[in-house]
Amino acid sequence: MILSIESSCDDSAIAITEIETKRLLFHKKISQELEHSVYGGVVPELAARLHAEALPKILAECEPYFDKLKAVAVTSSPGLAVTLIEGVTLAKAVGVALDLPIIGVNHLIGHIYSLFIEKEADFPLTVLLVSGGHTQVMEVKGFNDITTVAKSMDDSFGESFDKVAKMMGLGYPGGPAIQNLAKDGDRKRYDFTVPLLRTPKFAFSYSGLKNAVRLAVEDAQQEEYKDIAASFEHIATKHLTHKLKKYFQNHPPKTFAIVGGASANLYLRTQIEEILKPYNARLLLSELHYCSDNAAMIGRVAIDMYKAKMFSSLEALNVVAKSNL
Ligand code: KG4
Ligand code: ZN
Repeated sequence: MILSIESSCDDSAIAITEIETKRLLFHKKISQELEHSVYGGVVPELAARLHAEALPKILAECEPYFDKLKAVAVTSSPGLAVTLIEGVTLAKAVGVALDLPIIGVNHLIGHIYSLFIEKEADFPLTVLLVSGGHTQVMEVKGFNDITTVAKSMDDSFGESFDKVAKMMGLGYPGGPAIQNLAKDGDRKRYDFTVPLLRTPKFAFSYSGLKNAVRLAVEDAQQEEYKDIAASFEHIATKHLTHKLKKYFQNHPPKTFAIVGGASANLYLRTQIEEILKPYNARLLLSELHYCSDNAAMIGRVAIDMYKAKMFSSLEALNVVAKSNL
């Protein structure tokens, strides 16, 4: 079995996964959403302190599995350096105490593998990753064969929901709150500009849209917020589908996946389904409870890395805040 740890942002999670069967035997996650909500975003120092409390508590529950472990896996990049270090330090301690090899897992590959929890992996895939930290399109042939073809130049898709929610006083995380408010709103009421509409560049940008929404919020009455939320969700999504449609013209998709915390967004899911129709492409989605950060996806990547003997030495494994993908 593999014990896997996730602490890249505001979720403390540990899982136990059986290597041969891929079965998830244990998974527990303690989210810090409530604690960060008053600040309208994740406060790194507070997050680190909460991980230091939560991770050892969850680890204690894993004790019955200790003598069956073959490796310890941990998210080592990308994420908040001060929170990643909590998981990595714990993984090293467990590795030393139980004499186990360590596997450092990339969080973004973890999100891709959230599609394959308790399942066989299924490649090649074109993947749209939309989370709080990232918005990118990747061609994926395996955990060690990933090409990023587009990414955000500034804010991410999920982050733009968080910031719009903060402007409206809706707390953190903003994604579910905006989705909920938008469902009764008029998507056409506010005519926000679709980002990067006239440039052929395959990239994303959310900072301009965020600022346009800020001006609308400042001028609006509370009862108009639902229309702003709906129009924002519509344009934020249209930006993705507009760029993807263009990309598909030369790279027709066969199997397409949406992963990451914001892949839970229902409007995004239906709009992506629409643009895949002409290609008869399959759409893969993670189970809703595995869209957001969790340790089960880290454990699932770790199975494939374990089989490929991709271990890190205690000295070499370090945290890297920025993604190399
Ligand atoms: O993957 P994740 O749990 O953490 C990161 O790796 O960043 O993603 C969290 C992000 C947050 O920005 C959150 O607001 C967003 O995912 N999110 C959503 C929805 N649910 C979560 N964004 C839009 N619509 C949703 N339904
Ligand atoms: Zn994530």
